Amino acid sequence: MKRALITGVNGQDGSYLAELLLENGYEVYGLMRRKSVVDYGNVEHIKDKINFIYADMQDVVSLIRAMRISQADEVYNLAAQSFVATSWDTPCTTADIDAVGVTNMLEAIRVVKPEAKFYQASTSEMFGKVQAIPQTETTPFYPRSPYGVAKLYGYWITKNYRESYDMYACSGILFNHESERRGLEFVTRKITNSVARIKLGLLDHVELGNLDAKRDWGHSKDYVKAMWLILQQDKPEDYVVATGTTITVRDFAKAAFKAAGIEVEFEGSGVDEIAKDKATGKVVLKVNPKFFRPAEVELLVGDPSKAEKELGWVREISFDEMVERMVANDLKLVEKEIKSANL
Ligand code: GDD
Repeated sequence: MKRALITGVNGQDGSYLAELLLENGYEVYGLMRRKSVVDYGNVEHIKDKINFIYADMQDVVSLIRAMRISQADEVYNLAAQSFVATSWDTPCTTADIDAVGVTNMLEAIRVVKPEAKFYQASTSEMFGKVQAIPQTETTPFYPRSPYGVAKLYGYWITKNYRESYDMYACSGILFNHESERRGLEFVTRKITNSVARIKLGLLDHVELGNLDAKRDWGHSKDYVKAMWLILQQDKPEDYVVATGTTITVRDFAKAAFKAAGIEVEFEGSGVDEIAKDKATGKVVLKVNPKFFRPAEVELLVGDPSKAEKELGWVREISFDEMVERMVANDLKLVEKEIKSANL
């Protein structure tokens, strides 16, 4: 039986990855950070199948202990301060976790079990102000946020440990990936949840920032398969994982409203842009500059050819299906909320 250690196990990706590894017969260990209220997050439904270890990415001793206990053959480093906007508020913590935290984990592996394979959750945010379209494994990086800068360190230290110590350490450069389990602060889930609230009468309109930003959006369940495949190769290498298509935030919102049976039309521009429900004429979306970022990543679109060819990775969930699943899930959650509050 293979043993895997997942940092960030209770996040969106951690939960789908834990499910996949359990299905494949792995013994799964997950890092937990101590909080005053125990919160299993997205792994509540499989918490009895996961061996939790209290540890922190900023505490190398706790990571050495986690490696000793788990004796992991594969380590998936998904723990991060992953919300780009917050990285301007907490740039130092973001660096401690997303940059130095990667070195801490690599050192723990090197000390306890150097033959263990290591996956680093690298990100398309490293491309930032993109230097080529589409972005590939050889596109130069130009991060645009403290988050992107910290993640770039994580990418390079992973490569450096591979080259310095001959470790099986590699990165998946994952483009945006969403799901029903996405946190509410990210734009996709913020939209699908707000759409459900608007549809069910709990909210008038949603307020968003930059509607022109373009992202390459896939489903997290497909992307965790790529993570696993990256660790099953003969040689450690880095891979871009993406869909190869790009869509604006505006069009994501349009698709989400449509999935809830609301046709919208946009009018105006800049901070005055709004969207109206075509049937009722009501304003259902407004721009609020409070959600603009100090520096923006305007366009991301990845080329997944290498992952498709070398890993045999295939994407199964289309953009439309992803949006429909997210909206259907949020409608169900909001209905439940209404029932339990007797609204
Ligand atoms: N969050 C948010 N909220 N974003 C908004 C909003 C809003 O109200 N309005 C517009 N946006 C725009 C952001 O400015 C950004 O251009 C885009 O929507 C996507 O924002 P997020 O969903 O917060 O994701 P992200 O692209 O910044 O980062 C995500 O993807 C990365 C991979 O490229 C995160 O998951 C990162 O952790 C990940 O590395």
